[in-house]
Amino acid sequence: MPTPRASGTESNNLALAGAADASGGDKVHMITSAFEHPSVPEPYRRLQRRTVEVKFLRPDSAGPVDPDDLRCALRPGTRLVSIMAANNVVGKDGLQVRLEGLWIG
Ligand SMILES: Cc1ncc(COP(=O)(O)O)c(C=O)c1O
Repeated sequence: MPTPRASGTESNNLALAGAADASGGDKVHMITSAFEHPSVPEPYRRLQRRTVEVKFLRPDSAGPVDPDDLRCALRPGTRLVSIMAANNVVGKDGLQVRLEGLWIG
């Protein structure tokens, strides 16, 4: 059962730090976009100083994430992909449709 949190910022910090901690100190790879709310890249930058290698996907002319860039960035050791599914600029369809078929659980 999810535990309610005080804010989106707290939730993002906990999720990213938790995913990194679950690695048990091993070097892990995570992927996000360069188009996230600041509460995502800031914790990632802290994690980069520890054991996390982070790939920031760049937007293309069609939207925040090119699905082919994401496919190429995935590795066997990728621990987490965190990309917002909707936002107030492109809505939800633009992002979800482009990433369809890439959900890996
Ligand atoms: C995707 C996303 N994450 C986090 C936040 C930050 O949420 P909060 O202001 O509750 O910390 C926002 C706020 O707009 C958001 O859009």
